[in-house]
Amino acid sequence: MKAYMIALPSGKSKSPDNLNKLILLILMSFLLVGTTFLCLYKNPFSQWRQNVKMVYQHSLPASENASNSTSIGSLHQCDLFSGNWVPLAKGPYYTNATKCVIDDRQNCMKFGRPDTEFLKWTWRPNECELPLFDAALFLELVRGKSMAFIGDSLARNQMQSLVCLLASVADPVDVSYVEDTRFRRWFYAEYNFTLAAFWSTYLVRSEEADPNGYSLTSLMKLYLDEVDESWAAQVETFSYIIISAGQWFLRPLMYYEKGQIVGCYFCNQTNVQSLTRYHGYKMVFRTSFRTLLNLKRFEGITFLRTFSPQHYENGVWNNGGNCLRTRPIAKQEMELEEYILEFYWTQLEELRAAQKEGNTRGLKFRLLDATQLMMLRPDGHPSHYGHGPGENITIADCVHWCLPGPIDTWNEALLQMLKTEA
Ligand SMILES: *[C@@H]1O[C@H](CO)[C@@H](O)[C@H](O)[C@H]1NC(C)=O
Ligand SMILES: *[C@@H]1O[C@H](CO)[C@@H](O)[C@H](O)[C@H]1NC(C)=O
Ligand SMILES: *[C@@H]1O[C@H](CO)[C@@H](O)[C@H](O)[C@H]1NC(C)=O
Ligand SMILES: *[C@@H]1O[C@H](CO)[C@@H](O)[C@H](O)[C@H]1NC(C)=O
Ligand SMILES: *[C@@H]1O[C@H](CO)[C@@H](O)[C@H](O)[C@H]1NC(C)=O
Ligand SMILES: *[C@@H]1O[C@H](CO)[C@@H](O)[C@H](O)[C@H]1NC(C)=O
Repeated sequence: MKAYMIALPSGKSKSPDNLNKLILLILMSFLLVGTTFLCLYKNPFSQWRQNVKMVYQHSLPASENASNSTSIGSLHQCDLFSGNWVPLAKGPYYTNATKCVIDDRQNCMKFGRPDTEFLKWTWRPNECELPLFDAALFLELVRGKSMAFIGDSLARNQMQSLVCLLASVADPVDVSYVEDTRFRRWFYAEYNFTLAAFWSTYLVRSEEADPNGYSLTSLMKLYLDEVDESWAAQVETFSYIIISAGQWFLRPLMYYEKGQIVGCYFCNQTNVQSLTRYHGYKMVFRTSFRTLLNLKRFEGITFLRTFSPQHYENGVWNNGGNCLRTRPIAKQEMELEEYILEFYWTQLEELRAAQKEGNTRGLKFRLLDATQLMMLRPDGHPSHYGHGPGENITIADCVHWCLPGPIDTWNEALLQMLKTEA
């Protein structure tokens, strides 16, 4: 095991302390999982994509050839999500003055983020172009259709990006059926297009379980085999579903199946079997995909938006960690965190299984692979330039994404994928 396999950020040398931790982490993963990790760290990106391709090749029906398939989020021969960030001399698609709702917590412009270089990059896939977002084209493709974003605040983050991207062509009206803005519903009358957000942090039924009440680290109960009806009961007629889950799986979790406790993650209860967070993550995607597969009238296309990485540096999120970078990092500077890979693999496995099932029922499941491109964008988070209502910002937000910002790329990719499905 050699330390030089870890590429360090150029320009800024790591403190020996961090370096030691890294080496320790890598040593540990090496001991735990053997040689596969060695390969991942040696050449993380290419190896990773290779493996993703392999996962998908196995999942394709025999008649569909992997090299001639759009189903892995690739455009014919081109894998959209394998590429690089390159400079782009162009302003952002929208600003804080654009007529669209931007959550204050991600409105970095409004709260005076001084640097703008993070807005001047575009994603270039290795084998093709990712065209700039074309609002008119997007709206034509979704004419008469409906789209649902299901997940936590990062799902909402993407939906708000989309509404702002479309604002140059059309203004939607708010047709929400509840007051809770986490379930916002927009209608584009001219295009008969409905866009809806469904707030569901765990995708399955969940409850707070801490006797001392909810906090950012309190225990949650997850009913792994019971889908969250707040979205499931509403989406049967939707044309497109963009589903995701993420950071909520980092807190202590109590797992239930058939109404009984089956284990927990980090709950510190000696009488309860300890299970990983990946167990919960796997099961909620399984339950969600199964629900979609079993909805009688459902004919939509489901996009799995993969785990969105966070980028705390100089400390952890609740202990001084921040994200102060102003430009993307290069692939060789990237430090792959094991838990992100593990979440990513876990959801890919479930997507693959759903794709297989979906084939027999004519339902499509697609990969919107946000993970690796966003790993390279530690500069895209609000840090301290975002404010909730009346919030005293002491904790930096290195989880969500500034609007405008690199998250707009998720919708550029979504548009290209819709094009190939049309
Ligand atoms: C897949 O494509 C290769 C050539 O790229 C061809 O040799 C092979 O027969 C194809 N398989 C199927 C199942 O179509
Ligand atoms: C790729 O698929 C299209 C239809 O989806 C088909 O017309 C074309 O012949 C295929 N190309 C190859 C090389 O198999
Ligand atoms: C937009 O951001 C600028 C710069 O921070 C600020 O001066 C302006 O008031 C903001 N406008 C709106 C409508 O938020
Ligand atoms: C609008 O779209 C919905 C499906 O989303 C469809 O049922 C309805 O007929 C459409 N209305 C018009 C006027 O085209
Ligand atoms: C279990 O203990 C760890 C470490 O002390 C703590 O971080 C975590 O919040 C605890 N879990 C619960 C549910 O209290
Ligand atoms: C905000 O938090 C900081 C640090 O905890 C504290 O010093 C400051 O007084 C707080 N400001 C307000 C308005 O609560």
